[in-house]
Amino acid sequence: MKKILSFLAAMLFCCCSADNEVKAEEPTNTGKTLVVYYSYTGNCREIVNTLTSQIEADVLEIQPAEKGLKYEANNYALGTQLLNAIKANPNDASSYPAIDPVTTLLSGYQNIIIVTPLWWSQMAAIMQTYLFQSASQMVGKHVGMIVSSHSSGISGVVSDAKRLLPNVTWMGDALWINASNHSNRATLIENWLKTLTFAEENMDKMYITIGGQTQSVTLVDNDATRELVAALQSAPITVTLNDNNFEIWGSLGKSLTTKNEQMTALPGDIVLYNGSNICIFYESNSWSYTRLGHIDGLSENELRTFLKAGESNISVTLSLTSGTTAIKSVNGNRMEDRAYYSLNGVKVDNPSKGLYIKNGKKVIL
Ligand SMILES: Cc1cc2nc3c(=O)[nH]c(=O)nc-3n(C[C@H](O)[C@H](O)[C@H](O)COP(=O)(O)O)c2cc1C
Repeated sequence: MKKILSFLAAMLFCCCSADNEVKAEEPTNTGKTLVVYYSYTGNCREIVNTLTSQIEADVLEIQPAEKGLKYEANNYALGTQLLNAIKANPNDASSYPAIDPVTTLLSGYQNIIIVTPLWWSQMAAIMQTYLFQSASQMVGKHVGMIVSSHSSGISGVVSDAKRLLPNVTWMGDALWINASNHSNRATLIENWLKTLTFAEENMDKMYITIGGQTQSVTLVDNDATRELVAALQSAPITVTLNDNNFEIWGSLGKSLTTKNEQMTALPGDIVLYNGSNICIFYESNSWSYTRLGHIDGLSENELRTFLKAGESNISVTLSLTSGTTAIKSVNGNRMEDRAYYSLNGVKVDNPSKGLYIKNGKKVIL
């Protein structure tokens, strides 16, 4: 109760600091970033303004479908009611408050930064709706999070994010901004950005060609996909797959490092089975697999057609470009520009011992 009263008393804290004008210079090979936020009383909006003064990013604001609601009225009754409904049935879409339709496609973004308020030590219900609805589009993306609260710690919000987005690569720890440090957010954000691992441009993409039609695939980041990309940098791989009622599958012709986990593979998911078999799903199946990626943007019916569901001896080509002929030159470019950057984003020509960013990742020399 003490905690509740303290933030009730000071809900609207003032934010006086000017946004930091200095743009952090990012590694040039960092992929595209989308900042997704919800803000009820304006603090997260200010955080987003500060954040986007420091990095290049597109911005998406999530809005509740029902306008003018007072979540704080009557001792925050409505906010509490929304969160309780989610808690009671977190897997049911109808537990989540409706939001305005979102048209932004996530397929063009490798990195997503969520900026959300904390409500009763949980993620604000409106943001939970967006993450629940877009989790399948976020599979394999690099995701970071900033949480704004009055004073409560953010571990509950981090748990909510992990529950809602089980199959993303977290870019680093979430940043907590609260009433007492909100005015210092420019520095907090600047330092936090230096700790994140951004995905590289296009390094999370592979292409699948079947019967002359090519579809892009968003790869997750693990040992298996890194090994697969390394192999595809030499040449495309063509495999012969067969239908198995909910997937097409067969030998990849090589073993990759497994990171098996019990999962429910969804339509469009691509996994490694038993270390050397590739499975591409047009329906769901629960088993222990190593996740590889997800075919971008096809409905279940489109997947069936694309994958030639029901047929046998389906020739499937995996490659790193949507046109399989230009592999060499494109791969040449991929292999270049392996520069080192200091933690504040400055390119370093002759790095000595220390911590640097290379390929969007921290490396120690
Ligand atoms: C329904 C509701 C519940 C809240 N619960 C808490 C809480 O438990 N602890 C806390 O420190 N702040 C709480 N807050 C305050 C917000 O987390 C804080 O003011 C945040 O900065 C709001 O972000 P916004 O201005 O972008 O909406 C709550 C606010 C609302 C509206």
